[in-house]
Amino acid sequence: MTHLLGQTAQNYLKQLAECSETETGVTRFPFTPEHRRANALLTAWMEEAGLHVHMDDAGTLIGRYEAGENTRTLLMGSHQDSVKQGGAYDGIMGIVLPILALQALNRQGKILPYSVEVLAFGDEEGVRFPTALVGPRALAGTLDESVIDRKDKHGQSLRAALSDFGLEPEKIGQLKRNSEDIIGFVETHIEQGPVLEHEGLPLGVVSAICGIERHQLTFTGQAAHAGTVPIHLRKDALTAAAAVTLEAEKLAIKLPDLLATVGQLDVTPNVPNAVPGSVSMTLELRSPVDEVREKAGDMLQAYAKETAQLRGLACEINRTYGQSATVCDGNLQLAIASAIGGLEVPVFTLPSGATHDASAMADLTPVAMLFVRCKKGISHNPAEFASDEDMGLAIEALMRLLSDLQP
Ligand code: GLV
Ligand code: MN
Ligand code: MN
Repeated sequence: MTHLLGQTAQNYLKQLAECSETETGVTRFPFTPEHRRANALLTAWMEEAGLHVHMDDAGTLIGRYEAGENTRTLLMGSHQDSVKQGGAYDGIMGIVLPILALQALNRQGKILPYSVEVLAFGDEEGVRFPTALVGPRALAGTLDESVIDRKDKHGQSLRAALSDFGLEPEKIGQLKRNSEDIIGFVETHIEQGPVLEHEGLPLGVVSAICGIERHQLTFTGQAAHAGTVPIHLRKDALTAAAAVTLEAEKLAIKLPDLLATVGQLDVTPNVPNAVPGSVSMTLELRSPVDEVREKAGDMLQAYAKETAQLRGLACEINRTYGQSATVCDGNLQLAIASAIGGLEVPVFTLPSGATHDASAMADLTPVAMLFVRCKKGISHNPAEFASDEDMGLAIEALMRLLSDLQP
């Protein structure tokens, strides 16, 4: 059975991977035609599994297994969106596997003493809009609603994108759930790193999820002729951006608990024979220790301001996004461990350096995560891969978890 379930998962993920803006890898941003197509597939599979489907006003597609009035609810799921030219598993696998687990239990005639919802969140990656986790934050009641007016690079606001998707963003404030009705949130995710493969294990239990923050920096100098303006008379925005990039790397080498990444640079005018007049860049910091990350953010902001001043540039800096580190719930970790153990697979616990919807859900309810082995640890890359066998085992672990969990 494991193999068949895993094959079905692989087949579903292949179809979902075709809902992509690019031919290379998967590019599926929130509230786009690709998102709509993926939702149509997920809706059909959720309905086949016996779930009642609707979309909430934050763009989360929700499939509900209804156990009856006054039952508490276990939440499962992950995000549908991808990075630009990402893989076919990050996020969306954590929607497909619980659907298949519920479908298999349904076919066995299993009746659960609690309701279950599979959530397909719209935006976890935060690539299209300078914010993320709008779906889970809306459920937890922690959403700063001002982010809805932030714009993507084409000038469309998240509010307009939600409306065009048929949603009513002004009703997002009504989505907050009552934590007493919720048992917990269990997210299944590809590991995105090499640890499980190195250990020779298909599955892992996540102990904690790192914290993250993003800054948007814009340096403005003066575009000038590359052949006529001497170096000491230039106001080169790119050399300032480069200095900050190297300083971030230096800090991350010095502090073992810190990762720092400049992943996006927009250079103007971006031609070979002009001094760059302005650069807009992102700076992303991650750490399992919030104080380390926050201190590093302050230090790098100060360094960027100082660099701009020394070079005679203007500099605008905004911290656009933050999510603190999260410890997974002990009881749910034990429940996942016992489900894995029941398959006679050794139980292995590891922390997550990637961030997840579960972190935002932790403000609502206890959270836990099941990791699935990732080929060569490659993720945020078209080569990302999880095998049929490993996904089949993950579905069986979820079936055991669902069957054994006490409401
Ligand atoms: C989000 O998925 C991240 O860790 O980049
Ligand atoms: Mn990701
Ligand atoms: Mn993810």
